[in-house]
Amino acid sequence: MHHQQTRPGFKSKFGAIAALAGSAVGLGNIWKFPYIAGTNGGGAFLLVYIFFTIAIGFPVMLAEFSLGRHSQQNALGTFRVLAPGTSWLLFGLLSILSATLILSFYGTVSGWTLEYIWLSLTNSFKGQNAEDINTIFNNFISHPYKAVLWQSGFMILTGAIIMGGVQKGIERYSKIMMPLLFLIIIALSINSLTLSGAAAGLKFLFRPDFTCLTADGVLAALGQAFFSLSVGMGILLTYASYIPRNDSLPHISLKVILTDTLVAILAGMAILPAVFSFQINPQAGPGLVFLTLPTVFQNLPAGEIWAVLFFILLTFAALTSAISLLEVPVAYLVEEKKMKRPAATLLATSVITFIGSFNTLSFGPLRNVHIGGMNVFEACDYLCSNILLPLGGILICIFSGWYLDKSILFNEISNNGILKIRFFKLYIFILKYIAPVCILLILLHAVGVI
Ligand code: PFF
Repeated sequence: MHHQQTRPGFKSKFGAIAALAGSAVGLGNIWKFPYIAGTNGGGAFLLVYIFFTIAIGFPVMLAEFSLGRHSQQNALGTFRVLAPGTSWLLFGLLSILSATLILSFYGTVSGWTLEYIWLSLTNSFKGQNAEDINTIFNNFISHPYKAVLWQSGFMILTGAIIMGGVQKGIERYSKIMMPLLFLIIIALSINSLTLSGAAAGLKFLFRPDFTCLTADGVLAALGQAFFSLSVGMGILLTYASYIPRNDSLPHISLKVILTDTLVAILAGMAILPAVFSFQINPQAGPGLVFLTLPTVFQNLPAGEIWAVLFFILLTFAALTSAISLLEVPVAYLVEEKKMKRPAATLLATSVITFIGSFNTLSFGPLRNVHIGGMNVFEACDYLCSNILLPLGGILICIFSGWYLDKSILFNEISNNGILKIRFFKLYIFILKYIAPVCILLILLHAVGVI
């Protein structure tokens, strides 16, 4: 079928899970989670984040999977098939906007990881203390074009994979690289536990102090849950069409969620004790991982090798997420605008890199441009993670809870009645009322309406 050729060709069951986990596990877990937890008070944030992941992320993910496997379509096509001639199509367009904007700042940080591979290869961190590393990082991100070049390099890599090599390349390497990344993060978190002063970091991460949690922090936890699981913007709809009919969607969702949350917590355990041990400010923001890890590696035997390996694996984790993001606009251009795949990839990649360069430069030449007290990068992240994704989540809930014939959901979740589903009524109740109302209240509260 035409639309099947336009999407990444993960064919096996393992391939589908690798694609889903590959999309979920990325910079969101390793770069973003530790610093967002850091800026929002640690333990209380972690609890709220886990609560949102289970109570809202899980039902929304299951709904996206059901819609996607039922319709066998992309983000826009799903609504064209399931709600023909309605304004639900606009939701498809919103997904494309979200994916485009997310990738525009995702590429910035992915570019930083490429520079860090280079710096590790050339042994540039050797003998530098935390302050020197701070200077290296700040000089790099404020450079007039270096970071944009790395970002463009990363985007070219992403585009090249999307253009052709998904079946052979990503699926094959995912099987090796993702488990390796998992192992290296476990090793790093064990190492961090042995640092002097590690206890303060663990206390910060695991002992909830709700006085540190603001309304903005609650919204950030919700946004982080959506961002990290890749829900709320239709990418899972697309990938779900590759899940074989006899696989259990609730089981797959739980597997993806468990992996994703575990990697985030492990990353927190690798970073935050080191932050306290080396007296780095936990509120350092987007640079936190890049300021902390080089110091950690320096204190390890054969640290240079660890560093190179780690940043290569991190780039790989970023790539598997970035291709899922790029696929959204590319599938749209190919299927809805009838463009050829190479041209569509070229167009989407160029536009995203162009928009993305503003995000990247907002740490350098554009550092004085502020939107609502944030630089361009932070504003773009805020808009996507804290507004667009939760909004997408509400719309998924309304669509599947209110608009859609419930038998479609039931048949997908139970594999046409073969699996015993005990909580279907409760699930529909959550989808109809709890999840959308909860998201809406948090959104309105954080923007100051209530
Ligand atoms: N979930 C990815 C991460 O945690 O890095 C980022 C992401 C990928 C967000 C795909 C949204 C998405 F659709």
